[in-house]
Amino acid sequence: MPSLAPRIDTVPASGIRRVFEQAALLRQDGTDVAMLVIGEPDVPVAPHIGEAARRAWSEDRTDYTPNGGIAPLREAIRSKLRRENRIEADLEQIWTTIGATQALFQAMTLTLSPGDEVLVPDPGYTTFTMNAHIIGATPVPYQLTPQQDFEPDLEALEASITERTRAIVVNSPSNPLGSVFGEQTLRDLLALAKRHDLWVISDEVYEYFTYGTRHVSLASLDEDDRVFTAFSLSKTYAMTGVRVGYLVTPKGLGPTMRTTQEAMISCVAEPDQWAAVAAIVGDHSAVQDAREHYRANLEVAKEVLDAAGIRYLDPRGAFYLWIDVSHAAQGDVAEWALAFLHRERVAVAPGSAFGRSGEGWIRVCLAATAADLRRGLGALPAPAHAVV
Ligand SMILES: Cc1ncc(COP(=O)(O)O)c(C=O)c1O
Repeated sequence: MPSLAPRIDTVPASGIRRVFEQAALLRQDGTDVAMLVIGEPDVPVAPHIGEAARRAWSEDRTDYTPNGGIAPLREAIRSKLRRENRIEADLEQIWTTIGATQALFQAMTLTLSPGDEVLVPDPGYTTFTMNAHIIGATPVPYQLTPQQDFEPDLEALEASITERTRAIVVNSPSNPLGSVFGEQTLRDLLALAKRHDLWVISDEVYEYFTYGTRHVSLASLDEDDRVFTAFSLSKTYAMTGVRVGYLVTPKGLGPTMRTTQEAMISCVAEPDQWAAVAAIVGDHSAVQDAREHYRANLEVAKEVLDAAGIRYLDPRGAFYLWIDVSHAAQGDVAEWALAFLHRERVAVAPGSAFGRSGEGWIRVCLAATAADLRRGLGALPAPAHAVV
């Protein structure tokens, strides 16, 4: 067998999968596992979205479409961007993608060459790092730590920029942290990107899930066409398996996007695009209900953690809780999460799967039943100093 391209071996494996797969095996054997490990909405997709997809199939709307998506979808996205995100985009800036996953890959492929550096959040969503490796670029982590209130340390960030740095990835609301960057932080990041002439790749897949704060889109603050934004229907409408997202590019990249999109995917499946139109223009009460469900779960979770004196980051967005278990993990939270799964039948994501700054922390998904959250979080060891 010939050898694979050497850089492929540098793509790190997911540190969440190990816990997930072992939890799935336990479940197969009939064990009741509290599944708090995967970032998957636990609410059903709204009926009108499924109906639109079924109608498309039954009317044989199953053809190739324009690379950027069917016109009604791009129009629907354009109105949504104006209304919800304060982004004025022309249709040539809007490209329907196979989830935000492909939008991110597109944006990184367009902006990075082998040997380039890209700044990625640490802890951060693993795909940012994986994509960089696939492209042959080097991911350079910027830390988000409790000492800095989980906001980027702009001085340290600036100091890590070299002449190979080409882009910075920003993810707010954040997976895994659940934090939301304030508008001033976004402005500062944009100013920094401008000073060093960097692209900004903004992942906003959790835009609809914020608690007590407003989501601000980086591209709405962009004055000189440097921001790519990856959006997704996956989390908003609980349709992760349908695979629709979109990339909003800076102006003037239409011809380039048409070519790269053609080579990568040609287009998103047509019935899925009709489902996306229905989702975006249709009734949003299911989104509202989902937000309330996550918020109610958050209250349950906080009550359990507060009672045990366990430290966590109070999330402002997404549907995750970032919890400090360093008192139990002894420097290896990946091993600890596996042992915890087998001992307590509770599956959580080890923080180290999201970068070095995640050591000692776990990510818990709030898209779960309140009962699983109570049992799962109730099984976490309390720190010795906790006064309860
Ligand atoms: C931060 C972030 N970006 C992107 C994605 C991928 O989303 P999609 O299903 O749209 O590909 C996820 C999924 O977990 C995510 O958490």
